[in-house]
Amino acid sequence: MGTYIVWISSVLAVAVADGNREKRQGLSLEPGNWPSCQSGAARPYTRVNTTDRVAALRTYFASSRIQAYLVPSEDAHQSEYPSGYDKRRGNISGFTGSAGFAVVTIDKQALWTDGRYFLEAEDSLDCSWILMRQRETGVPTMVEWLKTQLLSGEKLGASPFLVSSGIDH
Ligand SMILES: *[C@@H]1O[C@H](CO)[C@@H](O)[C@H](O)[C@H]1NC(C)=O
Ligand SMILES: *[C@@H]1O[C@H](CO)[C@@H](O)[C@H](O)[C@H]1NC(C)=O
Repeated sequence: MGTYIVWISSVLAVAVADGNREKRQGLSLEPGNWPSCQSGAARPYTRVNTTDRVAALRTYFASSRIQAYLVPSEDAHQSEYPSGYDKRRGNISGFTGSAGFAVVTIDKQALWTDGRYFLEAEDSLDCSWILMRQRETGVPTMVEWLKTQLLSGEKLGASPFLVSSGIDH
């Protein structure tokens, strides 16, 4: 639990303007949008059940006045990361590939990663996650997606020095 308190205490709230909860058409952006989450498929042994971790993170949303939280990529070259930071995205999502970031909202959790990691993500995320396949047709950027999930004035929290890079994805 201590881990989650630290995350939230360093929150920089970022207003997401013009949110309207519009639905995107086309590609499935529903939880478990990959083959091994279809009924009858074998469960990958590397899949991590993150239900409790995600729920624990959400318990801090109200007091932090945020409706979403960004758990950024853990690129090793970002040497200014505080100690322990580089384990967070892997911890909250179960996905430990070296590129990707997770966003948890009040009722959804989504992970963005690129084509090198689609299969690894499918084998490690549990089926409550939405896999956002970066640069595939119909896959929104984080900001595009948040505009469909947050109402105007609702806020995304993240560790301050990571917001500018995270928001570009
Ligand atoms: C993830 O974080 C939780 C809460 O701090 C901790 O109990 C757990 O051991 C961590 N798991 C991993 C794999 O780092
Ligand atoms: C994941 O963990 C939660 C809470 O411990 C449990 O209720 C749920 O059934 C688990 N889901 C799967 C697919 O095992």
